[in-house]
Amino acid sequence: MKTIFSGIQPSGTLTLGNYLGAMKNFVDLQDEHNCFFCIVDQHAITVPQDRLELRKNIKSLAALYLAAGIDPEKSTLFIQSEVPAHAQLGWIMQCVSYIGELERMTQFKDKSEGKEAVSSALLTYPPLMAADILLYKTDIVPVGEDQKQHLELTRNLAERFNHRYNDIFTVPEVKIPEVGARIMSLNEPTKKMSKSNPNPKSYISMLDDEKLIVKKIKSAVTDSDGEVRYDPDNKPGVSNLLTIFSLCSGMTIKELEEKYKDSGYGVFKSETAEAVVETLKPIQERYEQLMSSEELDDILDTGADKANRTAYKMLKKAEKAIGLGRKR
Ligand code: TYM
Repeated sequence: MKTIFSGIQPSGTLTLGNYLGAMKNFVDLQDEHNCFFCIVDQHAITVPQDRLELRKNIKSLAALYLAAGIDPEKSTLFIQSEVPAHAQLGWIMQCVSYIGELERMTQFKDKSEGKEAVSSALLTYPPLMAADILLYKTDIVPVGEDQKQHLELTRNLAERFNHRYNDIFTVPEVKIPEVGARIMSLNEPTKKMSKSNPNPKSYISMLDDEKLIVKKIKSAVTDSDGEVRYDPDNKPGVSNLLTIFSLCSGMTIKELEEKYKDSGYGVFKSETAEAVVETLKPIQERYEQLMSSEELDDILDTGADKANRTAYKMLKKAEKAIGLGRKR
């Protein structure tokens, strides 16, 4: 049985991009794999966070994982800061990383560009991410396309460590979905949909209500040729809506092109919105129940216990390989 690991930052309410590009795929994997899903709160603090807001977002993300279908009987769901081995192995992975390779990370460049006070942790974020993954002998990491570069670095760091010290880490494969790997912004469809975008019209939050979803999709940027056709280079807005519609309805993009070939954007957009509402509604209902129940804490306690047991063993192997502490 293969091991899966993935993480999501609790830095604001998740978007439809996070759901379609990542979370939805986690749910499909848990039946046949040994899965670890993490709320990476230590990654979230690489940029300033309001203390109470962060607490709320951690709980909310846990509830969303479960509401989306993560089953705690099948998967281990836990909070990164409750498993200290992450930060401990993160330090070791920093010691095998080079500043040059970290400075080349697109996410670091995007997040630090033009800013005066950039935390050093924004630079050393990828070695912590590598630690997250390597602690669990992970075979496969399902993520959206924006994480591909970090995964390549993780593979390099694992190989470097194995070669330099001892062959202890599994070198993980990245798994990026064929459709939905990069859901785009609604108002600027050449940029990715992101929860950190200050304009809420650019994204659909997983907790947006029906009215808001309809409004946002109706005002999504398209083009003037009026043809529902998938062509990401020339028609990024329509292509993005087709991708969203396809993933929310189960119909292929081809089937949707055929169905809407003679209708204008108006009908196409309102039916896209309907499919999104149908997808998110049941998740939102379960989310509300979970947020008001006591279940969450028990699930996260059990998850942290299980994750700690696995992660501690690998941390000790890494410390031994590198020569830290006393020989036992
Ligand atoms: P984060 O929190 O930014 O995003 C969580 C997941 O959502 C995917 N995603 C998208 N997919 C498609 N379209 C989009 N517009 C879109 N936006 C986000 C991301 O690719 C990701 O899979 N560094 C990670 C968190 C992390 C992690 C890990 C992931 C920390 N440690 C170990 C995997 C393994 C991040 O910032 O994701």
